[in-house]
Amino acid sequence: MSPSTLQAPEIAMRPALRFITCGSVDDGKSTLIGRLLYERQLILDDQLSALERDSRRHGTAGEGVDFSLLLDGLEAEREQGITIDVAYRYFATARRSFIVADTPGHEQYTRNMVTGASNADLAVLLVDARKGLLDQTRRHAIIAAMLGIRHMVLAVNKIDLVDFDRAVFERIVAAFNDFAATLGFRTITAIPLSARFGDNVAERSQRTPWYAGPPLIDLLEQIDVEDDRSGKPFRMPVQWVNRPDASFRGFCGTIVSGAVKAGDEIVVLPSGRVTTVKEVLAPGADGKAETGDSVTLTLTEETDVARGDMLAAPRARPQVADQFAAHIVWMSPEALLPGRSYLMKVNHNSVLATVTDLKHRVDIQTLARLAAKTLSLNEVGVCNLSVARPIAVDAYADNRDTGGFVLIDRYSNETVAAGMIDFALRRATNIHRHAYTVNKAFRTALMHHKPAVLWFTGLPGSGKSTIANLVESGLHARGAHTMLLDGDNVRHGLNNDLGFTEADRVENIRRVAEVAKLMTEAGLIVLCSFISPFAAERRLAREMVQTGEFIEIFVDTPLEMCIVRDPKGLYRRALAGEIANFTGIGQPYERPEVPELHLLTPDRDPAQLAQDVIDELIRMKIL
Ligand code: ADX
Repeated sequence: MSPSTLQAPEIAMRPALRFITCGSVDDGKSTLIGRLLYERQLILDDQLSALERDSRRHGTAGEGVDFSLLLDGLEAEREQGITIDVAYRYFATARRSFIVADTPGHEQYTRNMVTGASNADLAVLLVDARKGLLDQTRRHAIIAAMLGIRHMVLAVNKIDLVDFDRAVFERIVAAFNDFAATLGFRTITAIPLSARFGDNVAERSQRTPWYAGPPLIDLLEQIDVEDDRSGKPFRMPVQWVNRPDASFRGFCGTIVSGAVKAGDEIVVLPSGRVTTVKEVLAPGADGKAETGDSVTLTLTEETDVARGDMLAAPRARPQVADQFAAHIVWMSPEALLPGRSYLMKVNHNSVLATVTDLKHRVDIQTLARLAAKTLSLNEVGVCNLSVARPIAVDAYADNRDTGGFVLIDRYSNETVAAGMIDFALRRATNIHRHAYTVNKAFRTALMHHKPAVLWFTGLPGSGKSTIANLVESGLHARGAHTMLLDGDNVRHGLNNDLGFTEADRVENIRRVAEVAKLMTEAGLIVLCSFISPFAAERRLAREMVQTGEFIEIFVDTPLEMCIVRDPKGLYRRALAGEIANFTGIGQPYERPEVPELHLLTPDRDPAQLAQDVIDELIRMKIL
């Protein structure tokens, strides 16, 4: 093809349209995209004959061509679920070019939809005319709205299967308009169509004479979606620092909004240092660059800038804080646990983050706010988050690039949530730490030992408390200053509001770990005896104190033996079904993988094991 045939100068091209297709499984997304490509002759002939052949073999469309086969090749890759996987397809008509993200509709693939939606301008939400609005339809509409999509096309598909019945179409449209009234879409266009037979896809169908609107392709070609990113203040999250030798220091990244040129004043965040751009380096940059450009900037002064910092317009700054209010979409089969720390990826930062307060979850039927202690797969909620260090972000409503984040499970490395910053909590910058005159070092100097946390973990009835008791007696006899925190006792006071759900156990351990930390600052050796069944919270407790201060002691007694011992008669009741979430019976215990001490109780008596602990403390030079 010669270059001239690529241009169609007589038609003013609109900017490319980025859109997603979404909706419930089997509503026909793949077929619709296949149909769009086919109608515009975007399928090469050899692909088409292969498709006809495959359709005869595997397809579901009878004698016709099954367009969904065009896309299903990617299914296997997606199913691995290691990465968020969205199939992006590029195609163009004479009037416009398109980037479409095809997002699988199966419930557990909400995550793909989130990825696809986060940079789309429009959503085509498919509904099966026979089924009407389903949970997944509503959920996808909510997610699309939350992710800032302002234009919605409600594609009422399979209209042929309801005999092109106007009343069916109108009922679905009315229900959707009702539901979506508060979601903030600027346009909602409903089209009755058949992806399989092409009705109202490229041309108005004779079979729906009652429908006066445009066919889908016309609508997509003509709709105006405002992209106002270039009009927004300058933002460039730093992706990496290029420092080939001592004489050059360039800061590389993509400009996600606004523009920049040599001589512009910028602020580096979170440090707040204001400086000036010396050069804008990129092919053809000519001293300036705009939204979407990937560039390297140099600065006039030697300035400390690291990956994850944000370069921004000084007069319209992002917010810098370590606590935020945010919307999140939970995407993992493992429920959200407030208090557990997750890895937050935001603007090229990886920072530890905890949900400190789950405000509510959103009911996808009614959009009502429901009280919630946790979020399960595909649920949407509003929460407060606390991060380990201050970061620069914008509200998602102001900037979809610098206000979006994901949460990652620290063990499985799975992306468990997508989030949108609502606002920074002022608290984060207003509470300052009080500097003590007498600090931990002064306090410990009066003791004749180092502070430490001895963390006893194990099944109920494994012998934790018995051994911890003996260890404390031994330490006391040696003149050590100690404190013993025990599950049963702490749950009568500080934690008397907590039960035994996973969420409550996480909070139980978080509070205890905070208390243990304070006690190490007082110089004490703190013995903690808690089932603490989850590795994540034991790690949290470990990370709260200094390296070398945390000694995890796994009291390893086989479950069968705990059941036989049953000191409190609780196993008997749990096995009789009277206690639903009893550790070891109805709830898991995650064995420590590399504890500092692994006590095998069946082999030795408690006094010997306690002596082993004390010997270890001597070896570690804590005593
Ligand atoms: S933890 O899981 O949150 O670490 P913790 O050690 O504080 O538990 O409390 C455990 C004690 O609570 C047990 O020794 C037992 O006496 C009592 N208990 C009551 N119900 C349960 C339950 N469902 N699971 C475990 N322990 C329970």
